[in-house]
Amino acid sequence: MTTSENQIIFTDNLSLSYSSGAGQIDVLKGVDLEVMDGEAVVLVGPSGSGKSSILMLLAGLEDISGGNLKLLNQDVSNFTEDEFALFRKENIGIVFQNFHLIPTMTAIENVAIPLELQQKDDALDQAKSWLDKVGLAHRLDHYPAQLSGGEQQRVAIARALSSNAKLILADEPTGNLDEATGREIAELLFQLNKQEGRTLLLITHDLELAQRADRILRLENGKLHALSHAENLEL
Ligand SMILES: Nc1ncnc2c1ncn2[C@@H]1O[C@H](COP(=O)(O)OP(=O)(O)O)[C@@H](O)[C@H]1O
Ligand SMILES: [Mg+2]
Repeated sequence: MTTSENQIIFTDNLSLSYSSGAGQIDVLKGVDLEVMDGEAVVLVGPSGSGKSSILMLLAGLEDISGGNLKLLNQDVSNFTEDEFALFRKENIGIVFQNFHLIPTMTAIENVAIPLELQQKDDALDQAKSWLDKVGLAHRLDHYPAQLSGGEQQRVAIARALSSNAKLILADEPTGNLDEATGREIAELLFQLNKQEGRTLLLITHDLELAQRADRILRLENGKLHALSHAENLEL
């Protein structure tokens, strides 16, 4: 494997197969991906191509079937669940496709979780300021079930950003938002990328959003391909 000081993601021949009653599905068949510090990379691909699966692997929430994975220059391929949980807490903010909010906690409590795990004294104040940034200052004490899909999405985004993680993984973060809110959230993500140098790996079907990335990669038939500029127009 090559090494580089400011490499945030490096995968070498990464593969993932799921086995189920219906047999084995080979979803990722040798993914080579390198993302450098401060880059904003968009991942596109047909539904079912394995985009969410890549994110789960990068977050240590799914076991690698083969190949190697390095994050922030550390080989994490053989991390135990506990080791990865610790690493994730410090370094990765994730916006899941289906939010994964804790139903028994209010919006502000959900956003404060990563901060409390990091033992920040002002966890609730910081959580409040992140909810303000995603336009939800008026919904601090609402439970997920009392929020619309778009509002839950924004809580999930605030939670992913609140920990100040170096790497932000976002799975269709604007998918449930109306156009105006989606644009604001996209603005926030790219602003954090540019101003704070947070590395961003973003899955989206939104062409406008994709065009703002430094690079666009397409996942198809278990492999990643770089899209040329002309191809960008027909995601
Ligand atoms: N936990 C799982 N067990 C078995 N198959 C799965 C599991 N998760 C996803 N898959 C399958 O893997 C493929 C890729 O899924 P996914 O990563 O969600 O694709 P995408 O996000 O690109 O739509 C799909 O065929 C899906 O049905
Ligand atoms: Mg998906």
